[in-house]
This record gives sequence, C-alpha cells and structure tokens, in this order.
Amino acid sequence: MKIEDVKRIGVVGGGVMGGGIAQVHAAGGFNVTIRDISQEAIDASRDAIVEGKWGVKRACEKGKMGFDTATQVINLVDYTTDVNDLADCDFIIEAVPEKLDLKQDVFAELDKIVKPEAIFSSNTSGFVIQEIAEKVSDQRKTQFLGLHYSNPVPVMAMCEIITTPQASTETIETAIAVEERANRAISMVKDMPGTYGFILNRVFAAARREAQKILDDGLATEEDIDRAMITGRNWPAAFFGKRGGIGKQW
Ligand SMILES: NC(=O)c1ccc[n+]([C@@H]2O[C@H](COP(=O)([O-])OP(=O)(O)OC[C@H]3O[C@@H](n4cnc5c(N)ncnc54)[C@H](O)[C@@H]3O)[C@@H](O)[C@H]2O)c1
Repeated sequence: MKIEDVKRIGVVGGGVMGGGIAQVHAAGGFNVTIRDISQEAIDASRDAIVEGKWGVKRACEKGKMGFDTATQVINLVDYTTDVNDLADCDFIIEAVPEKLDLKQDVFAELDKIVKPEAIFSSNTSGFVIQEIAEKVSDQRKTQFLGLHYSNPVPVMAMCEIITTPQASTETIETAIAVEERANRAISMVKDMPGTYGFILNRVFAAARREAQKILDDGLATEEDIDRAMITGRNWPAAFFGKRGGIGKQW
C-alpha cells in the first residue's frame, strides 16, 4: 500500500484515543470510519470530536483551527458499529482497551474482513507489536506496525512508529507519510519482545521511579518534586498531583 492509495482510515475503538486519532487524520484530509461496539460509544465519540474539550468547535473558537478544517473533519468522519464497514479501509488504527487477547482477537477478525493490501496498526501503550499481530496472516504481518499517540491527540503531536522485523519498507514509508499528513511529530522505535512501552512511557516510568526514590528518601515533598518538573521542564503535569495524561483528566 502506497501513500497515494490511502484514502480511507479505519479507527477501531472510538474512545479517548480513537476520537482524537480520527480527528487529526480527518484534518489531514483522509476519510475516516470509526468503529465502536455500541451506539452509545459512537455518540460519545462524535460528541468528543465535534463538541468536546479538544474537539473541532472549541479549536475553532480558540483560533487553533480554521473553520474550513473543522467542517472538513465533521464531513470526513463516518461512524459505525458494524465491523464489515471497515472492509474497504486502506489503513487501520486500532485503539480498543489495553488487553492483549482483545487486541489479538480484534486483529484476527479484521484480517478476514479488511482488504488484504491494507496496513494495520495498533495504538497500544506498550504491548509487543509482534504479539498483537500473532493471529493475522504472514502477509499481513509485513503490513503491521505500532502507532503510539499521546492524549489528547489533537494537542499532543507525538506519534511513535514502532517497527517490527517483519514490516516491509513500503509499509513503514506509507505509515510515515500518513502520519506526516496528520501533522504528527514522528519518532521511529523498534519493537522489542520482553519489554512494555516504547520511548515516552518507558522514559516517563524511569523518571517516576526516581521521583519516588527522592520522596522515599525524605529529600523533597510530592509538591516540590512536581513543581520542579512542571516549571523546570515545562511539563503540563508531573507525577503525584494532577497527572492528566491517560483519560479525560486534562
Ligand atoms: N488514554 C491514553 O492516554 C492512551 C495513550 C496512548 C495509548 N493508549 C492506548 O490506546 C488504547 C485505547 O485507550 P483509550 O484510553 O482510548 O480507551 P477507551 O476505553 O477510552 O476507548 C476504548 C474504546 O474501544 C471500544 N471497544 C472495545 N472493544 C471494541 C471492539 N472489539 N471493537 C471496537 N471498539 C471496541 C470501547 O467501547 C471504547 O469506546 C489502549 O490500548 C491504550 O493503552 C491510551
């Protein structure tokens, strides 16, 4: 699959991450289909994209997004509960809950339904990509990557592209081109069996361990540690107080 053939992106799971992922790819000009498992989830996803804190209406009001782009996003995103509606997608980004067996089963089902040349990717926070891809065909394994974004996706530009030894050069090049169109700041990282997490979460976890040690040794309070990191590195949040980051806490 080459970049010029990528017309429609399927986002599987329209929650905190899926909604933001759909939004930035539609802003980049791709047609997007969000698939979730209930009408309630679909409605929440649409609401987040249009009316939510990080949605297009507010971005427009704050001058962060032009009216035309906001309208484009609203027009380019389709919603469905029927997995068969993903059959014609050229590129899949999975954002279902962080459970390895669930992700494996979701991809096994998609492998049968979605056209054989489509690229598959997972927004796992840290599972080994080769393990997530365990139940897809050998051909699809050459078209399989990790794409790790940070919440809230419309604000945090990061996209770690996690490559496996099986991934073809064409797949990697197309993923890079797709994410460039979605205005992402790309970091390349290799998949590594036996680990959990890629760059962002591993480095944050190491810093979190050090912060805990400073606290346990009685050298500084939680507030002082957080304040040093927030004001010294311009982090939006640190370790102990308002953490933000993974849900709707921002
Ligand atoms: N929240 C974060 O900060 C963050 C950051 C990076 C990566 N991630 C990863 O992104 C993934 C999704 O996390 P989230 O925070 O968006 O979770 P979430 O719970 O907000 O959203 C998950 C969505 O998937 C749907 N879903 C469940 N089973 C499904 C299925 N079989 N098919 C389609 N949809 C299904 C749920 O209904 C829900 O809407 C996880 O793997 C998580 O580790 C999360």
